[in-house]
Amino acid sequence: MTDLATQLAGACSAAFESEGLEARWGAVKQSDRPELADFQCNGCMGAAKQAGMNPRELAAKIAPKIGEHPSIERVDVAGPGFLNIVVSNSALAEQATLIGADDRAGGGAVDAPEKVVVDFGGPNVAKPMHVGHLRSAVIGDTLVRLLRFLGDDVTGDVHLGDWGLQMGLLIVAVKDDQPDLPYFDAGNQGPFPAEPPVTMVDLSRLYPMASARSKDDEAYAKRAQDAVAEMQAGRPGYRALLQHFIDVSVAALKVDYGFLDVSFDLWKGESDVDPLIAPMIEELKSKGFAHEDDGAWIIDIAREGENVETVGKDGQPRLKNPMPPFMLVNSRGATGYHATDLATIKDRIETIGPDRMLYVVDQRQALHFEQVYRAADKVGYLSMDRLEHLGFGTVNGKDGKPFKTREGGTLRLADLNQMALDEATLRIGEAGLSGDIGEDEKGEIGKLVARAALRFADLQNQRTTNYVFDLERFTSFEGKTGPYLLYAAVRIKALLRRAADEGVVRGEIKVEAAEERKLVLALDGFALALHLAREKRMPHFVCEHVYGLSQAFSAFYSACPILKDGVEAETKASRIALCKVVLHQLEAGLGILGITAPERM
Ligand code: ARG
Repeated sequence: MTDLATQLAGACSAAFESEGLEARWGAVKQSDRPELADFQCNGCMGAAKQAGMNPRELAAKIAPKIGEHPSIERVDVAGPGFLNIVVSNSALAEQATLIGADDRAGGGAVDAPEKVVVDFGGPNVAKPMHVGHLRSAVIGDTLVRLLRFLGDDVTGDVHLGDWGLQMGLLIVAVKDDQPDLPYFDAGNQGPFPAEPPVTMVDLSRLYPMASARSKDDEAYAKRAQDAVAEMQAGRPGYRALLQHFIDVSVAALKVDYGFLDVSFDLWKGESDVDPLIAPMIEELKSKGFAHEDDGAWIIDIAREGENVETVGKDGQPRLKNPMPPFMLVNSRGATGYHATDLATIKDRIETIGPDRMLYVVDQRQALHFEQVYRAADKVGYLSMDRLEHLGFGTVNGKDGKPFKTREGGTLRLADLNQMALDEATLRIGEAGLSGDIGEDEKGEIGKLVARAALRFADLQNQRTTNYVFDLERFTSFEGKTGPYLLYAAVRIKALLRRAADEGVVRGEIKVEAAEERKLVLALDGFALALHLAREKRMPHFVCEHVYGLSQAFSAFYSACPILKDGVEAETKASRIALCKVVLHQLEAGLGILGITAPERM
């Protein structure tokens, strides 16, 4: 199905073409002045200027032509040549009916679906997550849902950080704790026990300890570096331990992500591309893409105008527009974050064959991705315009500094979830749930409210801006919040149940009252919102839409009696049908945001 704005644009474009003007002038959008009209076309000004015509005269010619369109009630020419379009009640009613019957609730579909890999989450095994990882998980998961909804073929990959120094630190820490484990016998080729020697609780205790100690104990740090080198070189006991660390962490991550309804198709990590790295290095060396530099192997990625040698104010030489090289192998012969990311691109091309890869990672890694993408482009894996780094802003505390837990430490996702759950439970208590809801159901509702609060608070901001973490505000049932949206959905569900109890069945939708018109116009904006969100990779467009729809519903609900005594049966049937359409679209929109409404609350 097609939204009204697009249908009207078709008519407007044809009218411009019939005047010998370009079709693009016929673009139509919902009106900026809803008190005057439903839609507007601003093309006459530009078209007239280009053709040397008078814009108002042109508008006067175009208006009657588009006025013939069956959905249009009236076209007014205003100001310098705006076309203000009012659509008919019946066109709105028909549109609402179509949205109600549409699988995508009027959200449209992409013309040319793509095969896309979304790299998001990116937690590191054993290391605690920070709020940046939360943002990546929520934004990435939403983009996966959005693109999939619109018809793209999407694979979400968590890309675990499981290959770095943290693994060496853990190996050393476990060794000091339990030196007799078979993993530490260098000659042992395995097999090793299937049961992990540590739990998540052990890992969360050992890692911070080891990390802190390595900062001022050089010998300890050296042991960790050696351990990671040996692990990377393939020492069987260390590889077996690595797998245990990964398994234990992944199990815990699945619980924490589950709370937020974040899921991944692939649970691959940096360690998975290890077998690809040596052959990749050989290939890149032999093809002449990599060259030796001070014992390291690098790929030159600088462009004209970068790395220009100049002299600074202090008389010292310095580089203008520095662009460090892509580090394939460092001078110690080790491979790192650059190599694993390049190999991962190669792996995905070979195993999935995507048109495009999206990386939802902290803005602070922008340079890293620029380097990786240039390298991938240069060596012919995938061209840069198909590799997108989608950065995001930081989450700040009320003091404006990056958010920390009350104790000032790094945040753990499990703790954050618990904090949100506690706050949501408090809010639910204040609001007073309907009496007959039992404890179990209350618990489930609390989780849904907490999830809606956290996800919506994050997603409603433009991805690239920072926001302030304020659980009290996020969990409020009033204002632009997740819980407010849940409340809107639950209210419609309750209404539909009551209608069913009273034997009111859905009938033909009629649109008459101003609030009904506004509500249907809100519904009609879904396709554009989803299209913008996909095009710009910005979930907040979806948030804007569901929030606007909920507000339009509220206005309709207070102005138009639905089940009241005295309302005519036909009107009741029409309004209940309209409510059902709103719920259909609201749930589709919330579903894209990863938010589920309870049946009641
Ligand atoms: N593990 C990384 C971190 O914590 C994020 C991984 C992002 N994805 C990637 N392909 N590099 O910073």
